[in-house]
Amino acid sequence: MLTLIRGGRVVDPGNLDGMMDILIEDGRIVEIKDRESEGRGQRAEDRGQRTEGRGSGVKVIDAFGKIVTPGLIDMHVHLREPGHEYKETIKTGCMAAASGGFTAVCSMPNTNPVNDNSQVTEYILKKAGAADMIRVYPVAAISKGLKGKDLCEYADLKEAGAIAVSDDGHPVADSRLMRRALEYAKGFNLPVISHCEDIDLAECGVMNEGAVATRMGLAGIPNAVESIAVMRDIALCELTGARLHIAHVSTTESVRAIRNAKKRGAPVTAETAPHYFTLTEDTVDKYNTNAKMNPPLRSRQDRDAIIEGLADGTIDVIATDHAPHSSIEKEIEFDLAANGITGLETSVSLSLKLVENGLITITSLIEKMSTNPARILGIDNSLKLGNPADITIIDPDISFTVDANSFRSLSRNTPFDGWSMKGKAVLVMVNGQVIFER
Ligand code: DOR
Ligand code: ZN
Repeated sequence: MLTLIRGGRVVDPGNLDGMMDILIEDGRIVEIKDRESEGRGQRAEDRGQRTEGRGSGVKVIDAFGKIVTPGLIDMHVHLREPGHEYKETIKTGCMAAASGGFTAVCSMPNTNPVNDNSQVTEYILKKAGAADMIRVYPVAAISKGLKGKDLCEYADLKEAGAIAVSDDGHPVADSRLMRRALEYAKGFNLPVISHCEDIDLAECGVMNEGAVATRMGLAGIPNAVESIAVMRDIALCELTGARLHIAHVSTTESVRAIRNAKKRGAPVTAETAPHYFTLTEDTVDKYNTNAKMNPPLRSRQDRDAIIEGLADGTIDVIATDHAPHSSIEKEIEFDLAANGITGLETSVSLSLKLVENGLITITSLIEKMSTNPARILGIDNSLKLGNPADITIIDPDISFTVDANSFRSLSRNTPFDGWSMKGKAVLVMVNGQVIFER
C-alpha cells in the first residue's frame, strides 16, 4: 500500500523545510520529493515514475496550504490508567492525543497502582497496544509509591519499556535520594523528569502568591516554591552529570536558573505548558477551579518570562501536563478542588498563537513539540527515508471555537472552553496509518 502526502510545506527542523511530497510504503517513508526541483535531475524523475507506475494503488493525501511535520510528541500526559479510569483511560487519552495532533505521548506514573514496577509498565504498554492508535511511552516513578524514600528498579523498568523516570505530582524532597536517582538513571541513560516544588514552603497554598490571592482570600504559593527546587536539581545535575528535565516551568526565576545552567553546559532541559504562556493568575478570578493546577498560573511578568524562555531556547519543550479530572473533583470549593487541566486537544492551537503573534517561528514550535522531546527521549522521529511514517498535518488557517463537550478526553476540565482559536491538526498518521482525520 502506497500513500502520497502531496503539496504541503514540510517542516522537519534541522532536516527539511520546503514544499515537498512524501511517499509512504508499508508504514515507512520511501521517498521525499522536493516540488521546487521537480522535473529537474534524474532522481526526481525516477521518483515520479515510481509513484505514477503504481497508478491507482496510491492513496493521495492533499496537503496544499498545510504544514506537514514529524509526529508531535507530548512528553507530559496523565493517562490515569490503571486506577483512575473515571477520569481517563489509556484509550480515551490516546483518542484525545490523536485529535490534538500527537503521534506519541509519555504517560506519567501517578496512577493506582503507581508505575513503579515492570508489571505496571507492561500493563500500560499492553493497553496502549490494544488501543492501537498513537505510541505511548511510559514514564516510571523515581521512587517506590512516589514516596521519595526508596528508588525503583530502573534496570527492570527500562527493560519493560520505561523511557524516563519521574515522581511527577510529587517532588523528591530528599536531596540525597535525588542525587542517587540521577546517578542510577544515568547508568541506564534514562532522563530524570523533575517536578520542582518545595512542599514545605508551599504550605497550604492553592494559587499564585500575590495581590490576587490576597483579594480572593486564598493562600498563596510563592515563585520560590518552584525555583528553590529547580536550583537544587540543577546543582545535583551538575554534580552527577546526569540528564535532568525540568517539568512544567512556571516562573521567571526558574527560567533564569535554567538559562544560566545551560550556559555553563549543564545537561538540563526544560518544558512548559500552554497555560503558562497563555494565562495568568487573573484567570482564577471567580474561583474558577479550571484555572487551578500545580504549579499555579503566575503573574504577567512570569508569563512573559516563559515566552522569552521559549523564544531564546531556554525552554526546549511545550508539553501539556494533560491532567484530566472529573466534575466531582472540580465543581467544588476552590481550596478542595483537584489540581490540573486537560491539554491535549488545545495545545497545538494555543502554541500556534505564539507563531501568529510573532513570538516564535513555526520551525521553533515544531522543534518544541516534536524534535526536542524526541531528542530528550532518545527517539528518531525525523522525516527520513526508512523511518516509520509518524506524521502530523496542521492546517494553520482553520478557525474554530473550543467546545469541551466535544473532547475525546473523558474529562472536561479546561479553562479554554468557548475560546476562539485558529489552527489545528487535521491529520495524524502513525506507522503510515491514518489514525485521525478531521
Ligand atoms: O496540576 C497538576 N496535576 N499538577 C501535578 O503535578 C499533577 C497533576 C495531576 O496528576 O493531576
Ligand atoms: Zn504532571
